[in-house]
Amino acid sequence: MKKYISFFMMIVLIFTIVFTSTGCRPEDVPPAEDPEPGEPIVEGPQVPWGEVPAIEDMIIDSAAWEEEYPLIYQSFLLTARMGDNTVEDSTLGGLHPTDYLEKYPNIKILYEGFGFAKEYYAARGHYYSMEDVINTARPKPGANCLACKTGDYERLFVEHGEDLFLMDFYKTAQEVDHPISCYNCHRNEPEGEIQVTGPHLAVGLTHLEEEPPAGTLACAQCHVEYYFDTETGAVTLPWHNGTGIDEIESYFDEINFADWTHPRTGTPLIKVQHPEFEMYTGSVHDRLGLSCADCHMPTMTEDGEEYVSHWAKSPLKTAEESCGECHRDSEAIITQTEDIQREIDAMQVEVSDLIVQLIEEFADALERRVIDDDEVIDRVRSLHRASQYRWDFVMVENSTGFHNASKARQALERAKEQAEEALDILAEYQ
Ligand code: HEC
Ligand code: HEC
Ligand code: HEC
Ligand code: HEC
Repeated sequence: MKKYISFFMMIVLIFTIVFTSTGCRPEDVPPAEDPEPGEPIVEGPQVPWGEVPAIEDMIIDSAAWEEEYPLIYQSFLLTARMGDNTVEDSTLGGLHPTDYLEKYPNIKILYEGFGFAKEYYAARGHYYSMEDVINTARPKPGANCLACKTGDYERLFVEHGEDLFLMDFYKTAQEVDHPISCYNCHRNEPEGEIQVTGPHLAVGLTHLEEEPPAGTLACAQCHVEYYFDTETGAVTLPWHNGTGIDEIESYFDEINFADWTHPRTGTPLIKVQHPEFEMYTGSVHDRLGLSCADCHMPTMTEDGEEYVSHWAKSPLKTAEESCGECHRDSEAIITQTEDIQREIDAMQVEVSDLIVQLIEEFADALERRVIDDDEVIDRVRSLHRASQYRWDFVMVENSTGFHNASKARQALERAKEQAEEALDILAEYQ
């Protein structure tokens, strides 16, 4: 479910490639052609995507649209709601904020030596994006963490260029007045096409064969896997080889990337962020052409007036509007969804038990210095890295497997095999 956690989303975005390769600052980049919907994105850097208004013309405060779009604006404010009594949360979809360290104690060992072992709360609504990133106890590398938290991000990016990424987080956060706002997805034109304001996605899109539908594009600005370029701090989407679980891993392996090293096993590990877009891609619903917004932002009716709900939340709270067009029995489809989540959650816990066992046995063997062959050590580390990466991909994806149950199952099965293979090797050194 919500493994989002405030801040970590940010950790990732990168425009690096573009900027380092061209030496351009955003002001120097000629405005890119806004691609026609459905047209393939042209090769090469796409920063910015669409036309960026002059700083003084940017309408960043959502309240500016309250009068023109009262129903949309009111629904947007509902992202401030926490597990309230009016609308029931689904069992696993969760009350807020859930403390994952308490719920899944294994992650203290899995994420040992990394910020998420200290604090890890479930994601909350968009309204809290700034509050939660500022309050998290986890260290923040720089202002790049703001990329998915605020409607001010594009303004900051235009003002500071690529220097923004490594600017002091807290100082820069003081220049920010708004959490996620209408500007993030619409710039100044709510009636027009969805606009991509996250430069990292503009770059990421150049690696895709097809542009996702508007209601998915908007969310892929933040609900994706990302990492910070180790030199520039640029938020980067690791899609160079594709958006599949194996392709992302192969890219990280090629560039020798690690988010941190496990302090007791020496394994260079990848911390997955919130790969909703990547998990969802290729699912039953994706193949039917449904976008994230179709389920998460259904069309609602109030006093006879229809509007697109902007309360991004669990679609199970609006199962009739979100799913009813195809699944007539709302209760049955909620039960079926929760069955999938229970199954994936149980698998996830089982695999995490195995990886914990692997870490303990490996750390013990290393401490006793009983493995005298470096190749064996490397082999166990690489199995640990691969297994934990797949477990994490499912663990931190916020739908607990629902978005793509078969992909989640496959990843966990592979993770289990990899952990078992490592345990078999270690068994010889008991
Ligand atoms: C077919 C409908 C459907 C589509 C399409 C869909 N989702 Fe979901 N999403 C769900 C359901 C159902 C859940 C689980 C909600 C729950 O557990 O209460 C969920 C959960 C989530 C959550 C966690 C919600 C929470 O309460 O913490 C996020 C975030 C999310 N989805 C984002 C996305 C993104 C981004 C996309 C597009 C890439 C997407 N979803 C596409 C149905 C959908
Ligand atoms: C997280 C991204 C996001 C944010 C933030 C956001 N919107 Fe939207 N908005 C969407 C999407 C997605 C659609 C549906 C577009 C589509 O499917 O083509 C939409 C549609 C709309 C529409 C057209 C509705 C229609 O009937 O076609 C209006 C108007 C609108 N948004 C206004 C706003 C306003 C005002 C705010 C701020 C209070 C806002 N939006 C914030 C993503 C967003
Ligand atoms: C600018 C970045 C950004 C964009 C764009 C964005 N999100 Fe989010 N989303 C976040 C962050 C950050 C959180 C976690 C906020 C927190 O925990 O404080 C979040 C949380 C959520 C949640 C969990 C809410 C809850 O109550 O648990 C859902 C559902 C969600 N987003 C859906 C969407 C959908 C659907 C879209 C596209 C229409 C979208 N988001 C676009 C950044 C974004
Ligand atoms: C545009 C039509 C459509 C919408 C809207 C839709 N679904 Fe589906 N859904 C399907 C189809 C078609 C299938 C595949 C056939 C089947 O298994 O029933 C499916 C399959 C499923 C499955 C079984 C998937 C699996 O992996 O085994 C679940 C659970 C589900 N949908 C839940 C939902 C929920 C929850 C929503 C709303 C948040 C929703 N669907 C919205 C058409 C839709």
